[in-house]
Amino acid sequence: MALANAVGKRRNFAIISHPDAGKTTLTEKLLLYGGAIQQAGAVKARGEQRKVTSDWMELEKQRGISITSTVLQFDYSNNTINLLDTPGHQDFSEDTYRTLAAADNAVMLEDAAKGLEPQTRKLFEVCRMRNIPIFTFINKMDRPGQEPLRLLDEIESELKLACWPVNWPIGSGELFRGVIDRRSKEVILFTRAERGRQSEEKHLNIDDPELKSLVEQELLSQSLEELDLLETAGSELDYELIQAGELTPVFFGSAMTNFGVRPFLDAFLDMAQGPSSRLSSEGLVDPLSSDFSGFVFKLQANMDPKHRDRVAFLRICSGRFEKDMTVNHARTGKTIKLSRPQKLFGQERAVVDDAYPGDIIGLNNPGMFAIGDTLYKGKKVEYEGIPCFSPEIFSWLRNPNPSAFKNFRKGVNQLREEGAVQILYDKDESKRDPILAAVGQLQLEVVQHRLENEYGVETRLEPMGYQLARWVNGGWKVLDEIGRIFNCKIVQDAWSRPVLLFKNDWNLNQLLEDHIELELSSVAPVVSGVEPISL
Ligand code: G4P
Repeated sequence: MALANAVGKRRNFAIISHPDAGKTTLTEKLLLYGGAIQQAGAVKARGEQRKVTSDWMELEKQRGISITSTVLQFDYSNNTINLLDTPGHQDFSEDTYRTLAAADNAVMLEDAAKGLEPQTRKLFEVCRMRNIPIFTFINKMDRPGQEPLRLLDEIESELKLACWPVNWPIGSGELFRGVIDRRSKEVILFTRAERGRQSEEKHLNIDDPELKSLVEQELLSQSLEELDLLETAGSELDYELIQAGELTPVFFGSAMTNFGVRPFLDAFLDMAQGPSSRLSSEGLVDPLSSDFSGFVFKLQANMDPKHRDRVAFLRICSGRFEKDMTVNHARTGKTIKLSRPQKLFGQERAVVDDAYPGDIIGLNNPGMFAIGDTLYKGKKVEYEGIPCFSPEIFSWLRNPNPSAFKNFRKGVNQLREEGAVQILYDKDESKRDPILAAVGQLQLEVVQHRLENEYGVETRLEPMGYQLARWVNGGWKVLDEIGRIFNCKIVQDAWSRPVLLFKNDWNLNQLLEDHIELELSSVAPVVSGVEPISL
């Protein structure tokens, strides 16, 4: 009963956006509703508060960015909400992708003036792979933006995602007057406040005579006409389609002025999916199953330099988690006592006594956990692994000092295991230097930095000039049948599978045209139960 209650109350999500769309600002406002932070600015101030941590974090400080992503939990309106925080920097990495593997819902945040942007598109692809519900918040309505209908059209045509606006704006930019709630037919008026101040949300019924004196008739009529158009030509509100990730509820607002954030949160709680069943070796696992289970989706080293600790982030999938619980580790078959589980809030941590499906906990990881590992109690289950995402940056990693080879090897192997970067190898065994393959430049810098500081090896990066990686369905056999291929480099991944590297789309398309029998995949097939090759 306690388990059903806890699961019923839980909702989690991650925000997907391009830098500058307002993710930090929106997060901050959402947390305010949960009473989780007292003052605005606290999320950003995290940076200064951490007089922490490791040498690696030093890199974060130097560059004023946040590589670390953690979890923010808050209670609101009888729900417990877990916001899985993803790094906001341009040079994002696979961590951002992996966090989405642990999320049950995503909030796609757009800047009204910019519409869809590259990073949002990439992250959207991961949500699509997992079919999770996506909620769209169109931000910065207080500033001049694109036509709302155009913004919807872009989402529908480019992402092939149907839209159902939950509210509709009245005017925009200087003339932004508020929104009409489509379900209640209520008008929520926006009052412009001085910079840094919150706007006040005034609610009026659409028939309220007072409205005439508050909103220009022309703006109101235009908004109502557009709403009419949506009613006749647009999608229908279908909760099943939302849950299947095929229809996105759309909200217009302004995070900075805190306009439209509470209505968004209320509607999100109404429409979002709770902790969902997950696919495992034993089929779908129900979160209400009394046996505890969960999987590791992210590892982070040296969160505290004094202890050189490593933390594994575990998403709980079923059953109740209790402190000091003894669990099984599916990959190694060992039993482990989880004695100091942590609850994470931004950079702060506290020991957690119990946790439920949908929650994320941090576990001490003295090297025993890898990305995708399953922990369970009772009957053995093993969750599907987390896919490796298509890297876009490739670089030889050179070790100029042969006497440091042992440390170099140890560092490279451990960082690969941790999932800090993907490692590819030349087909030719004699060329033993690894190829670092990343989705963001920052990942490469972090690896170099950590090799130097944690393993004492100075390395050199040699960019390779490739931009695309594709796995070959059918593996080496298919490649052998095809024979010689041009304008791409054939390498192998840590599971000895062939990977083709291309300099550009053109070369890739050319190959596909020349060999229509060839099937390529941009995401590495998930492997489980096989040990990878090491350096
Ligand atoms: P990010 O985490 O997605 O990178 O974005 P962040 O919240 O840092 O916001 C980026 C900029 O956009 C900030 O301005 C922020 O104040 C502004 N912003 C966010 N939401 C809104 C909104 O609803 N309306 C308007 N007009 N601006 C918004 P900045 O100048 O970079 O920083 P600051 O000086 O405001 O802190």
